[in-house]
Amino acid sequence: MAVAFAAHAQGDVQAGQKKAEMCIGCHGIPGYQNSFPEIHKVPKISGQSGPYIVSSLVAYKKGERKHPSMRGISASLSDQDMADLAAFYASHASKPAPEATKAPSAAVAALLDKGACLSCHGANLSKPIDPSYPKIGGQHADYLYVALKAYTVEGNQVVGRANGIMAGIAKQYTPAEMRALAKYIASVQGELSVVPQSRFR
Ligand code: HEC
Ligand code: HEC
Repeated sequence: MAVAFAAHAQGDVQAGQKKAEMCIGCHGIPGYQNSFPEIHKVPKISGQSGPYIVSSLVAYKKGERKHPSMRGISASLSDQDMADLAAFYASHASKPAPEATKAPSAAVAALLDKGACLSCHGANLSKPIDPSYPKIGGQHADYLYVALKAYTVEGNQVVGRANGIMAGIAKQYTPAEMRALAKYIASVQGELSVVPQSRFR
């Protein structure tokens, strides 16, 4: 099965499955923890949008995203590898997230409004307006918090994400507010999952 990404190489699901051998040790184990820069679960990437997977891998490769292990891994990936891996992980899409966004508490609703989160990430934070934007609904709360915080970090060699869109948004929040946002976003029914390693063996 071939999956086309505008302006990128064509991704091949089968080729991606082979290449994912080097990913499943972290992304294929439910609840797998990463300890840097603080303990958090490795992000769910099964069911993520293909163009966003490519875009985030490119950001690690270019050093715009500083996470050391993902920088090391993406450095070895060609455009074709990224397209194949993205096609493979995107092909794990589960059933669509509900059209109606889960009601947040009044406090969280105010935080969501302030950053207009749904205007880009869509209903249930799972229907991004552009396929190169991430689905975040149902993602691990501790990862969402670490990711939000990373957009506010500047001038650090090993922590941080340079992103023109999310930097301005994330900087409006205190750590406690980021935690409240992350907890709510993780609690909605989304389209992301961890597909256990054993499925491929
Ligand atoms: C050593 C463990 C490890 C391995 C192996 C690994 N990853 Fe990751 N991956 C992580 C961690 C931890 C993060 C979160 C990094 C951060 O905070 O930016 C991540 C982030 C990602 C992201 C960004 C997710 C998002 O929501 O933004 C993608 C895409 C990804 N990895 C794909 C892959 C692929 C494809 C492979 C195999 C070629 C792979 N990873 C191998 C640990 C790993
Ligand atoms: C103008 C569009 C836009 C708005 C508004 C927006 N985002 Fe984002 N968001 C993005 C894009 C684009 C990315 C991918 C950035 C990158 O490549 O690192 C992203 C990435 C993220 C990530 C990292 C996801 C991952 O898997 O690593 C989180 C968490 C996030 N946004 C949360 C939010 C929250 C919470 C709000 C509201 C407070 C918000 N976003 C508002 C466009 C937006």
